Amino acid sequence: MTLIHSTSEFDAWRKNVANQTVAFVPTMGALHRGHHSLIAQAAKECDLVVVSIFVNALQFGDANDYIKYPRDEQSDYQASVSTGANIVFAPQQQDVFPADFDCYLTPSSLANDFEGKHRPGHFAGVVTVVHRLFEIVQPDVAIFGTKDYQQVAVIRDMCGELHPTIRIVSFETVRDSDGLALSSRNARLNTASRLQAQIIPRALQAIANLHAQGQNHSHVLINEALKILGSEPSMHVEYLEIVQKDTLEPVDEARNAVLLFAGVLDGVRLIDNLFLQ
Ligand code: PAJ
Repeated sequence: MTLIHSTSEFDAWRKNVANQTVAFVPTMGALHRGHHSLIAQAAKECDLVVVSIFVNALQFGDANDYIKYPRDEQSDYQASVSTGANIVFAPQQQDVFPADFDCYLTPSSLANDFEGKHRPGHFAGVVTVVHRLFEIVQPDVAIFGTKDYQQVAVIRDMCGELHPTIRIVSFETVRDSDGLALSSRNARLNTASRLQAQIIPRALQAIANLHAQGQNHSHVLINEALKILGSEPSMHVEYLEIVQKDTLEPVDEARNAVLLFAGVLDGVRLIDNLFLQ
């Protein structure tokens, strides 16, 4: 159970455990139960678990967002260790991106729409840092949350090309008792907007019910979701689309599909999704 800050220290540790399997959970810290569940899952996959905490400036469009990102290394360290991490790797900026770093990646075409469209440059920053972290950590397995559905898809593509031996595992979204997906951004909601945010899980649940009753027409499901979300005047929907689960292409028939949603409530951007079998 160790907190490591430098790449050289990490390399030394990694060499010592070269004959053991390593599961890796990359994070930006501000850990909540969603992260904890990924760490617990990682402990089931491999001999050892590495959690990284690195707030990646490259993936933030807004410099203010990056500066304001919550940082509490000690409590993240404690939470990681108590949920199953062997190593918490919290590298310095210059360790991950040294002055001569020039390996900036372009994400696959799966990054073009949705988050990629609304957050230009975001996925380039994500695949660049994940590739770099994979180089350092050299995991056997890497674990991501389906909460960020498009992120996992884009990372799978990058990994298939550059790290074919690493197995990507995705794990389901952990939610609060009212159904809202846990996110570090939820802390920015005030009491009123936190209540208003319940419209998101309510809309998704209604769509899940309609789908379970046999409604497969995407446009019907989308219209119903928009109607429910529209009942909350403060909710500004950025996108709501039903896409094929692997290609992320919009589909008319909601089978093996995912409903992707992003919206802004009281200045706080929230995303969620729903798998439609
Ligand atoms: P971060 O937002 O810290 O998320 C780290 C991991 O936790 C991601 O795989 C994310 O999908 C997962 N996660 C977030 N909320 C979750 C929830 N409610 N339930 C289950 N899993 C959840 O995603 C990032 O960091 C960064 O982009 C990163 C991949 C670390 C690259 O910088």
